Amino acid sequence: MLKACIFDLDGVIVDTAHFHFLAWKRLADELAIPFTEEDNEHLKGVSRIDSLHFLLKLGNKTISPEAFEDALYRKNSWFLDYIAQMTPADILGGVSEFLALLQASSHRIALGSASKNARLILDRVGLTHYFEVLIDGNQIAKAKPAPDVFLKGAEGLGLSPDECVVFEDGIAGIEAAHNAGMKAIGIGKPDVLHMAKYVIPNFEGMTIEKLENIFETM
Ligand code: BG6
Ligand code: MG
Repeated sequence: MLKACIFDLDGVIVDTAHFHFLAWKRLADELAIPFTEEDNEHLKGVSRIDSLHFLLKLGNKTISPEAFEDALYRKNSWFLDYIAQMTPADILGGVSEFLALLQASSHRIALGSASKNARLILDRVGLTHYFEVLIDGNQIAKAKPAPDVFLKGAEGLGLSPDECVVFEDGIAGIEAAHNAGMKAIGIGKPDVLHMAKYVIPNFEGMTIEKLENIFETM
């Protein structure tokens, strides 16, 4: 029986996935590494460090440990500049309404994000109060596709994996949910998230009844 929803953040609740892309793209340009939105699909849900390793591999480049640290710092500072401008108007379509429906129907709500900036972003858009458990990149050692972030979320709620559903926009995140033994609903395009059993474009029009029906058929 479905008791809880565990949400990814970037690209699911807010469109920060695009800000991550812009910041990585700026770094890639500086390093003269060709980097496209298609390449960026492989970075969704992936930790900051693993993302930089991916980018360098893509460009067949090696940099010193100091330059590596510096690149991580600069990418994050550009990302922070973008999120400093965010307001509740940046919440993706249908998310606020769906969170309110979940709360009203006593479904439990947790966050399972790879980002170290997760709490900051939720605070900026005014959604922190909905999340009973908040697991982010500061609490987990093994990043997605490892299941840790979602297992910790379920543990925090005191539930078993089969009582939770995960909402994810990233390939690594869908894999992490499956690795945790959880059903995952993709947010985005079915051709990109082909490993997800069910994909929706966004939360517009989502109801508890619809969610329960989807959950049963997955
Ligand atoms: C994930 C994003 O949610 O968080 C990734 O999808 C990002 O793109 C990762 O790299 C880590 O985020 P941050 O904010 O700690 O760099
Ligand atoms: Mg995401």
